[in-house]
Amino acid sequence: MLQKEIETLRNDYSNEGINFESLPDEPHPLFSTWLDQAVSAGIPEPNAMIVATNDTKSEPSLRTVLMKSLDQSGLCFYTNYTSRKSIQLNQNPAISCLFPWLALHRQVSFQGKVRIVSAEQSKAYFHSRPRASQIGAWASRQSEPLTSRDELEKRFQKLEKRFEGREVPYPEFWGGFQVLPTRVEFWQGRNSRLHDRVVYSRPSQDQDWDVRLLNP
Ligand SMILES: Cc1cc2nc3c(=O)[nH]c(=O)nc-3n(C[C@H](O)[C@H](O)[C@H](O)COP(=O)(O)O)c2cc1C
Repeated sequence: MLQKEIETLRNDYSNEGINFESLPDEPHPLFSTWLDQAVSAGIPEPNAMIVATNDTKSEPSLRTVLMKSLDQSGLCFYTNYTSRKSIQLNQNPAISCLFPWLALHRQVSFQGKVRIVSAEQSKAYFHSRPRASQIGAWASRQSEPLTSRDELEKRFQKLEKRFEGREVPYPEFWGGFQVLPTRVEFWQGRNSRLHDRVVYSRPSQDQDWDVRLLNP
């Protein structure tokens, strides 16, 4: 695509705004409503979020993961605990997550810290997954170099045989992180680039939320 064509890619957003009069005291109810609306709107992978972590030199990295649970205290995703993101989170638990619901001209971003989900919760979620995904978790040495696709598929087949006729055991190197937010921002695209932004913030996780509007 030509530079000129990229420059002209542009939409105006004629959405209804966020109702500032009826904002809840905490972000959870509004996020839950927006998630429902993203599902109803048929957004592909509405629970997909882009997650940013930092390495020891404070260099950020990004990837997409699936949010798998949500409550008042935060949201969870599952991954391999030896992956690049997990190593970074163990060194520095600071995290940012972004839900890019572009078809609704919306985004929600979370900032906070992670804690490791209890082994019981990770185990229960692991066993709720399709069998092939469970074996896939065992087969993948996530984020490590791979010599060939063949190497991965052979490892998967070996594991299929190893676990044949029995429950796939829970791999201790796999589980959840819970994101405990201290800042949640809702963004709704509006006309003339006069978008709505609402930010909830609190100094720490056990304090009350402050809510305010931001300039677009
Ligand atoms: C739609 C989508 C959903 C994904 N969901 C997950 C997930 O829930 N957990 C996960 O570990 N990786 C997931 N991935 C793969 C990650 O983006 C990433 O490649 C992988 O976790 C390794 O990241 P890392 O090397 O930074 O640790 C997903 C990718 C996409 C595109």
